[in-house]
Amino acid sequence: MKILDICDLSVTFSTPVGDVFAVNNTSFSLNENETLALVGETGCGKSVIANSIIRLLPQNAKVTGSILFKGIDLLKVSESELEKIRQQEISIIFQNPSLSLNPLYTVGSQIIEPLIIHKKMSKQNSIDKAIQLLKTMGFSNPSKAYGMYPYQLSGGMNQRILLSIAMTLNPSIIIADEPTKGLDNELVRDIIDEFNTVKRVNNSSIILITHDLSVARELSDRIAIMYSGEIIEIGETKKFFKKPLHPYSQALLNSLPERGFIAPNGTSPSMINVPRGCKFHPRCPYKKQECSKKIPLFYSYDDRSVRCYLFQ
Ligand SMILES: Nc1ncnc2c1ncn2[C@@H]1O[C@H](COP(=O)(O)OP(=O)(O)O)[C@@H](O)[C@H]1O
Ligand SMILES: [Mg+2]
Repeated sequence: MKILDICDLSVTFSTPVGDVFAVNNTSFSLNENETLALVGETGCGKSVIANSIIRLLPQNAKVTGSILFKGIDLLKVSESELEKIRQQEISIIFQNPSLSLNPLYTVGSQIIEPLIIHKKMSKQNSIDKAIQLLKTMGFSNPSKAYGMYPYQLSGGMNQRILLSIAMTLNPSIIIADEPTKGLDNELVRDIIDEFNTVKRVNNSSIILITHDLSVARELSDRIAIMYSGEIIEIGETKKFFKKPLHPYSQALLNSLPERGFIAPNGTSPSMINVPRGCKFHPRCPYKKQECSKKIPLFYSYDDRSVRCYLFQ
């Protein structure tokens, strides 16, 4: 069952130096209880997609397409209805935990706030629930953690607090934007464990945004690879790691340390002067004449979808 259905989403920012085509005609859906990884290099449009879903984009953004959540188009609902959905149905964990937590309040009080406001829980019940959540999220002394301020905790711990806050209302969808960015390996491991806990305990659907393929591999059921504002391949994660289809996906996998750090040639194209045809063609070892003329459609291969003429 689809819980989120994004259709033909495009986001353009008007800037003094020209229009930035950040997301182009992108469609994908998220199923109930599914974790979908959205993977791609910095600047390819991952956060813009996340922010479009909860409509938190700056004024200079022009958004077209539709984002259906349980049948309602999030791009069309009133601000007040959307606010309710943001608080109770779709939780987003932003990229930088230290900016998302209020430095002036203890982490505990930030966890109980939504419980008191939206679940109308008593203070004592919400504190009990918060401490239980902190325990679930791996804090060995949850009562102590409850009374701490964000600055007293490490980046990884604050990330776990954000995940606890996201879990409090048992949302239908959790969007996590780069939850492991900047963390060392051990903490990445912790965060992966926490997400596994969320998946087990919460039954939420998760959009996991990451540039880290190994995190995507461990946590996601399906994976969508983005390149320069477009999804170029989407399908089952297991199949992807066995045999990535798009030449860019192959290049991305080959850049992993265990596969020899072979980076793809060249750099990502400008989002202002966008190349014609397939955006990857200037860097593609398999390019044919048609690749620079017309953007390929999605082709089906092995129950997956890939935007490349090789699979026509
Ligand atoms: N407010 C904005 N104004 C202009 N361009 C923007 C704005 N926000 C993001 N962009 C551009 O949109 C593109 C996608 O950004 P983003 O979604 O943040 O990438 P990432 O995949 O790293 O999360 C980038 O080229 C970025 O520079
Ligand atoms: Mg981002």
